[in-house]
Amino acid sequence: MNKFLLFVLFITASFCENQNEILIADDYKCSLPDVTSVDVDLDIHRFRSDFAKVSEVKFPGLIGPLNERLICKIKCVDGNWVGPLCSATQNGRFRPILRECPMRQNPNLTITYEKKIVNYSAFAHGSEVRVRCKEFGLYKFSGVNVLRCNNGAWSSKIPTCIPTATLTNTGDAPPTLKYTVGAGSALVDSKGELLIYPGSSVWIDCLWPRDATQKPEWNWSNSAKNHVGWSTLEGESNYRVSLTRVTLRHNGSYTCTTPSGSTHTAYVKVVSIVCPSRNSSSHRMLQFSHTGSRLGNTVHFSCSQGYRLHGASAVSCMEDGRWSSEAPTCEPIICPELRDPGPHAALQEYNTSVGGRAVFSCAWGYRLVGRPGLECESDGRWSDAAPVCVPIYCPSPPHLLDGGRLSAVDASKNRRHQVGDLLVYDCSSGYQIVGESSIVCTESGFWSHPPPFCMQPSDVVRADTIFYDNTTFVNFNE
Ligand SMILES: *[C@@H]1O[C@H](CO)[C@@H](O)[C@H](O)[C@H]1NC(C)=O
Ligand SMILES: *[C@@H]1O[C@H](CO)[C@@H](O)[C@H](O)[C@H]1NC(C)=O
Ligand SMILES: *[C@@H]1O[C@H](CO)[C@@H](O)[C@H](O)[C@H]1NC(C)=O
Ligand SMILES: *[C@@H]1O[C@H](CO)[C@@H](O)[C@H](O)[C@H]1NC(C)=O
Ligand SMILES: *[C@@H]1O[C@H](CO)[C@@H](O)[C@H](O)[C@H]1NC(C)=O
Ligand SMILES: *[C@@H]1O[C@H](CO)[C@@H](O)[C@H](O)[C@H]1NC(C)=O
Repeated sequence: MNKFLLFVLFITASFCENQNEILIADDYKCSLPDVTSVDVDLDIHRFRSDFAKVSEVKFPGLIGPLNERLICKIKCVDGNWVGPLCSATQNGRFRPILRECPMRQNPNLTITYEKKIVNYSAFAHGSEVRVRCKEFGLYKFSGVNVLRCNNGAWSSKIPTCIPTATLTNTGDAPPTLKYTVGAGSALVDSKGELLIYPGSSVWIDCLWPRDATQKPEWNWSNSAKNHVGWSTLEGESNYRVSLTRVTLRHNGSYTCTTPSGSTHTAYVKVVSIVCPSRNSSSHRMLQFSHTGSRLGNTVHFSCSQGYRLHGASAVSCMEDGRWSSEAPTCEPIICPELRDPGPHAALQEYNTSVGGRAVFSCAWGYRLVGRPGLECESDGRWSDAAPVCVPIYCPSPPHLLDGGRLSAVDASKNRRHQVGDLLVYDCSSGYQIVGESSIVCTESGFWSHPPPFCMQPSDVVRADTIFYDNTTFVNFNE
């Protein structure tokens, strides 16, 4: 079933009642199509009523295994809804969507569609897929490796992958094959063939226990002179055919036959595929290392310090002579914008590049809590959380005990005293103020002066120590 993104129309044939009547086109209307919606925002009722005068409905659809975005329509033709017909563009040619071909999920099959390995359960009409078994040599492929979907039917039976002896642990299963690139390059293509770049040396091993009384046999379809024998390097159980300095003569099928008569064939294709060479510096910050631009070669990318790789970190030269993906780009690593530090904070320095700094300061009367300077680190994160600016408070001033009062200038009755707050003291009549009559809360968080006290002029008392209240003990001699 095709999936339609914005809304889904399941159209069932709807006919006008008087089918045999020949009516003027305008009067010959279709009944409402059967509409269901997956779009919760769509008002079906309004939508339905709108159909009274409608002869064509267009809607967006996501069609096929790659969710191709198409414009589809159904049309009222002679009283019947026909369609859907879909097109890639508004003004393009609208064509019918033919039936899809089902593909049962098989974990052992690798399906390639439009050069991508896909995992879909249904392919659109006209799709061509290439199939192979997941791992080279671990399964014996049985079937045809290119399939085409024609209106619901595949061009041939869906292939099967027969587990080999390594998986089944039995001697009558097909032998397991393995390949090793000794020099040069090779890869397994989307059809399961082993593509080898000319001049390379590749070993194909048939896994079979060496101590058995009989050994397997290798044969091949060409006249190449290949060495066959037990491999002494990789364990004892590899019966190996060595293809050295491969030329076109090595092209063909290589079959291992076990003593029990089971076979497994590797298809070797010698191809001189070269991918376009990399321009030494498409991006100043992009660095790469590679062994070459030949089939099977891989290029590894990295970025200079302070830059982040955007895209694949490695690309391989594929069977179609193209790199497996576009070259990546390097994007500068930027530390996130720092949230508004608040009205009392200011940024003295602000550089979001790696190695850059953010330096904060606080307004007058505010104190910085946290680290004043942050550094943008190479992972794109700030070295610390941003600091905050908090008001500086002076401690509550002591009340005068004897004959004194705080002046009305102290507007901050019940609030804490911030920098700049002024307190003016006064004494009741008959008392004389001793000390500074006004004190200011300073940026140090202390009052500019000790509070004064009140004395009766007649007093001969010398006060060295005065209790202001039961919590504060202040000692001064002024
Ligand atoms: C896939 O291979 C495993 C053995 O590795 C086998 O048990 C399983 O049946 C296979 N699945 C299919 C669908 O052929
Ligand atoms: C494909 O399907 C299999 C089985 O449902 C699942 O395990 C696997 O992750 C899928 N792969 C991708 C690339 O979606
Ligand atoms: C290789 O051996 C197998 C099994 O004996 C046989 O079916 C096949 O035709 C042989 N291939 C060639 C190219 O001789
Ligand atoms: C090379 O061998 C493959 C099978 O492995 C065959 O399909 C292809 O036609 C051969 N190509 C040439 C040039 O002989
Ligand atoms: C690299 O690019 C420059 C300018 O785009 C071009 O002149 C030069 O030929 C290219 N080199 C290669 C090896 O593609
Ligand atoms: C930001 O900091 C980086 C790293 O220290 C430096 O290279 C760059 O010149 C600075 N940018 C500005 C605009 O100062």
